Amino acid sequence: MKIAHFSRWGFLMAAAGSAVGLGNIWKFPYITGVYGGGAFVLVYLLTVVFVGFSVMIAEMMIGYLGRRDGVGAFEELAPRHKEKWKYAGFMGLSGTLVMFYYSVVIGWIFHYIILSFGALPATVSDAESLYNQFLKQDIIGQLLFHTIAFLITTSVLIRGIKGGIEKFNLILMPALMLIIAGMLIYAMNMDSFSKAVTYMFVPDWSKLTSEAFAVAVGHAFFTLSLGMGAIMIYSASLPKDSNLVRASIFVIITDTLIALAAGLFLFTFLFQYGAEPAKGPGLVFISLPTVFHAMGGVGNILSILFFLALAFAGLTSAVSLVEPMVQYLIDRWDMSRFKAAVSMGLFFYVFGIVAILSEIDATSAFLTWGGKNFFDWADYITSAVLLPFAGLIMAIFVGHVMEKERVASVLKTHMGWFYPVWRFNIRYIAPVALIFVMLNLLGIITI
Ligand code: PHE
Repeated sequence: MKIAHFSRWGFLMAAAGSAVGLGNIWKFPYITGVYGGGAFVLVYLLTVVFVGFSVMIAEMMIGYLGRRDGVGAFEELAPRHKEKWKYAGFMGLSGTLVMFYYSVVIGWIFHYIILSFGALPATVSDAESLYNQFLKQDIIGQLLFHTIAFLITTSVLIRGIKGGIEKFNLILMPALMLIIAGMLIYAMNMDSFSKAVTYMFVPDWSKLTSEAFAVAVGHAFFTLSLGMGAIMIYSASLPKDSNLVRASIFVIITDTLIALAAGLFLFTFLFQYGAEPAKGPGLVFISLPTVFHAMGGVGNILSILFFLALAFAGLTSAVSLVEPMVQYLIDRWDMSRFKAAVSMGLFFYVFGIVAILSEIDATSAFLTWGGKNFFDWADYITSAVLLPFAGLIMAIFVGHVMEKERVASVLKTHMGWFYPVWRFNIRYIAPVALIFVMLNLLGIITI
């Protein structure tokens, strides 16, 4: 086993860096817009508190006790049938599959950082054609920025836990938090801030369809980086005698505050300048740039800062998406870190190119099946199938398979009265919630 150790603060920043990602700043505001605001946000928040928190502790515990790659950790901790349980550790692979599209989106963000230095689009139709032109025609541009995302992610991974991941997060996370806080303060001084607060926090239950419900629950898991082995592999490098409960609370509060702050300032900006909140994935790439344009010079500065923060959020999550498989190759295949990081990097890089081609007009027809192109499939399969499935397996493993005493030994002292509540959650509530999400997103049940 070649596992290095984080410092305490290094771990917190790295785990928060994994959680705070495109999910918080790009996805959360747009799905809140699409699914109608308050009620959606409430379901998301309740899931984070009542299920996400318990599953995060469970995932941290598997890594922390296993002290090795995910496959090895399940093998080590399963009291019997080790040769079967070890396959659960391959949930780490889904993180790399997420990178098929995640890296491409980080590339778009780089493109928008550069665009922010020039004239921003004045109208929604200008912004739309700029966005569509880039996504559907500009192969070279997308390839270039995807390559940069690949190079940054891989070079951080090559440097390992201490010199790479920890350092990277210790620099980028405080910078990201500062930018988000600054944007929020700026938005608080606008008239539309109260409208944004109402939009996000006053639930309109009529808008809560069963799909919205499932998306909110699924997103709570995705945004907390659960079910993909990322939190697990970082926790394998936790210092001894760590308090997993406190670490989970820190990660969850940071992740939630940043998502809410991003939603609040984005909706304030959009309302202030009369833009549409329900724009879908193009929200930050189409509606927002027109708002920045309307703000004049300060808009360019805000635009640069916003897309920088988004890039930081994406990159710190990207390294955590690939690290589980990198550590697996190191532990199990005896590869050097360099070779492991480059192999996994090239793996998502090549499929990222397929994702780009699946968006490009000239090639998308060959890469589209059943109404979804390769890019959308990569998102759908990972978040609607693999993530809830892995979450379910993990909850069953910790709640029903692992030895009770072993679980209690790391958690009971830090939890006190909460321990039985946690145990009930992980044994019953989390599995039910995850099965519901899976069946719903797969279109098998609707309520
Ligand atoms: N939590 C990240 C986000 O919100 C995505 C992610 C999922 C990262 C799973 C690692 C593991 O964008």
